[in-house]
Amino acid sequence: MSSKIIIAVDGYSACGKSSTAKIVAQRLNYSYIDTGAMYRAVTLYFLQNYISLTNPKEVHKALEHIDIDFVFNERIHDSETFLNNKNVESEIRKMYISEQVSPVSAIKEVRSFLVAQQQKLGKKGGVVMDGRDIGTTVFPLAELKLFFTADFNVRAQRRQQELLEKKQMVEFDEILQNLRHRDEIDTTRKESPLVKAPDAYVLDTTYLAFDDQVDYVVKLAKEAIRRKEEVLGLTNKS
Ligand code: DC
Repeated sequence: MSSKIIIAVDGYSACGKSSTAKIVAQRLNYSYIDTGAMYRAVTLYFLQNYISLTNPKEVHKALEHIDIDFVFNERIHDSETFLNNKNVESEIRKMYISEQVSPVSAIKEVRSFLVAQQQKLGKKGGVVMDGRDIGTTVFPLAELKLFFTADFNVRAQRRQQELLEKKQMVEFDEILQNLRHRDEIDTTRKESPLVKAPDAYVLDTTYLAFDDQVDYVVKLAKEAIRRKEEVLGLTNKS
């Protein structure tokens, strides 16, 4: 039996979830799955194909034509998102997708379509999955759950910096507005809203140095792995 665990990383946008989750996965030799990228890829498809978000039949039909993959790119040592065999990694990070992704991810059919794929991807364990509902809906029995939060202005500064690194210049106010709008939809939607799982550790990253936050999560992960090994009777008792 495997002692590889599932690590669920949830929380608000731009709190350092994905950058932390990625490095934690590398340190544990686990795979990393960015579920936000999946919602972004669906949003791109809906926009490209003029899918009406209020027409469930149209949404249902469109989902049948969506295939999402993550492909590791050796050159950049990172995995990239593919939509129907096309690399959409940089497109899905653009502001026009950030502006539309929350309403798309509030649609019930979209959620059940993606949650089923996420459960398939993570079921064997050995995975760090980041999103909004991983510890509550996708893997409610995950062995380690984390909930990321940070000061609102710090989040916006970090997002602006991230976009600048991708050569996208976006006004600070536009970013603030986008984060506020997404927080509002993500936390109040009917279908699995963003909430902290009762058994999740809260990480306020406002004043945390990145390396410290990674070390802390790795430490929690090792403790959770150890607990699982004890339950499975895999620990060396000598
Ligand atoms: O992690 P991100 O900012 O790239 O996610 C984009 C949007 O996708 C986010 O505003 C809400 C949605 N999302 C979701 O509803 N559930 C998830 N598990 C992941 C993302």
